[in-house]
Amino acid sequence: MRALIAGNWKMNGLTEDAKALAAGLKALDGQGESSAELLVCPPFPYLGLVAQQLAGSRIALGGQDCHGAAAGAHTGDTAAPMLRDIGCSYVILGHSERRADHGETDVQVRGKAESALAAGLVPIVCVGETEQERNAGQALNVIARQVKGSVPAGMEAERLVVAYEPVWAIGTGRTATPADVVEVHTEIRRLLVGLVGEGAQSVRILYGGSVKPDNAAELLSQANVDGALVGGASLKAEDFWAIARSA
Ligand code: PGA
Repeated sequence: MRALIAGNWKMNGLTEDAKALAAGLKALDGQGESSAELLVCPPFPYLGLVAQQLAGSRIALGGQDCHGAAAGAHTGDTAAPMLRDIGCSYVILGHSERRADHGETDVQVRGKAESALAAGLVPIVCVGETEQERNAGQALNVIARQVKGSVPAGMEAERLVVAYEPVWAIGTGRTATPADVVEVHTEIRRLLVGLVGEGAQSVRILYGGSVKPDNAAELLSQANVDGALVGGASLKAEDFWAIARSA
């Protein structure tokens, strides 16, 4: 399976930063050293700009969220068809920061994923336990609840990506151990088989949480790890590229 290396820029940077980062990535893409599929998810105001900058490169564009409805009276929200219209092919959904900051529930995340699919986008559905949940031995139960609740049932598996992001590893410099990652990813694969059937073998399951150039190769070589969702390190073109090269 071709790895997917996705950069989540979160709420960082202004016009000049977005331009410079996109230009840096496009220049590195020109060197053609990564066989992975590459994706960047800039903040909404810069999607159009980054789309223009990346035109002609192999780097795909994604949103960081979308609404569950295709249009309508939802002030401040962005619809999946708008993301598609502006050149996105992916959208990150149910990131733990949205679950925490905006109280997003599994039901809402599933609605967003259905809307994304209907618009022709590939949803990247994020799941992950908190440190407290892991310490209480609940990690796999939390993951199971989130996967079953957030992933639309009976969908075409090749149009789905799931990202495992332990909340305690995001932006902290701590990563899950390879053994923990394999355990959770294997469980996610098993759960997906129950939801979408044998096609689940072709769902890419990304790891996210402090992925850096110096730990990417080890994490990406583990069973059932089909790519990475990269936050902080995706804000430096060289670092993102180093991660992409290790896939
Ligand atoms: P991080 O973020 O790489 O900065 O830990 C990952 C994410 O939240 O997607």
